[in-house]
Amino acid sequence: RIAYVNGRYVPHADAAVHVEDRGFQFADGVYEVCEVRQGLIVDLTRHLDRLDRSLRELRMKAPMARGSLTLVIREVLRRNHVRNGIFYLQVTRGAARRDHFFPAAETVPTLVVTAKNTDPAVVTKKYANGIKVITVPENRWDRVDIKSVGLLPNVLAKQQARDAGAQDAIYVDRNGVVMEGASSNVWIVASDGTLVTRPAEHGILKGITRTTILDVATRLGLKVAEREFKMDELLGAREVFFSSATGSCVPIVEVDGRTIANGHPGTTSAAIRDAFFDIAE
Ligand code: PDD
Repeated sequence: RIAYVNGRYVPHADAAVHVEDRGFQFADGVYEVCEVRQGLIVDLTRHLDRLDRSLRELRMKAPMARGSLTLVIREVLRRNHVRNGIFYLQVTRGAARRDHFFPAAETVPTLVVTAKNTDPAVVTKKYANGIKVITVPENRWDRVDIKSVGLLPNVLAKQQARDAGAQDAIYVDRNGVVMEGASSNVWIVASDGTLVTRPAEHGILKGITRTTILDVATRLGLKVAEREFKMDELLGAREVFFSSATGSCVPIVEVDGRTIANGHPGTTSAAIRDAFFDIAE
């Protein structure tokens, strides 16, 4: 495997950044993950738009012009022979002697791009069987709208899920309002058949897959609502599923040990998944 690190394509095993990189020391950086299907990058423009926004929120400059960045991404995919998989892109404020303040002299941002093929069997199994999740209390900062590499709460939530025999975790706030997954957005098909996801203006990451699913749902003629919903509504929903770049829509069949609907993946998430790649650019 080959990785791109700061201007060079290097063997993945040798790819490294400086020990004083601010991403390493302060999680002072942002990232994107994009899916690649049949050699095409899914929703690249929206991902790069969100990257620009994340960088702006951290008062960081783009590491290079969008055209050049796109060429780097395509080159990493080409060198790794990725047809169906993902790429990962990370930008940090760069290396500087450790000090919380932004470095006085402008640093060169660190840019890393890696890519890999994914095993279709793994995700196919999730689609066929659905997954079990736990809920965890929302304990993150209030800027989770920024796709920052500061993911310690998410790491702990996912591991807690695994330790409990589940595959993932959903953040729920103190009022029982469903926020999002540890690395995905949450959807329900409510008891009246409406497809529901919470608003993304604050409190969650505005997922690119989420945005595309809203388009897909409209084209499929589904009734859609962007509104908050609580745990009691989720537990009584016809369907619950996750959306993210790494798994389009993944059905959830059990939450905190309680079965959702009949315990099998629903038809709405399957229909959205089937239509998704026709519509994603
Ligand atoms: N995670 N919410 C959180 C907290 C996420 O980390 C992600 C994505 C999403 C979904 O966003 P999108 O549809 O743009 O992938 C929502 C990526 C896949 C990750 O961290 O690996």
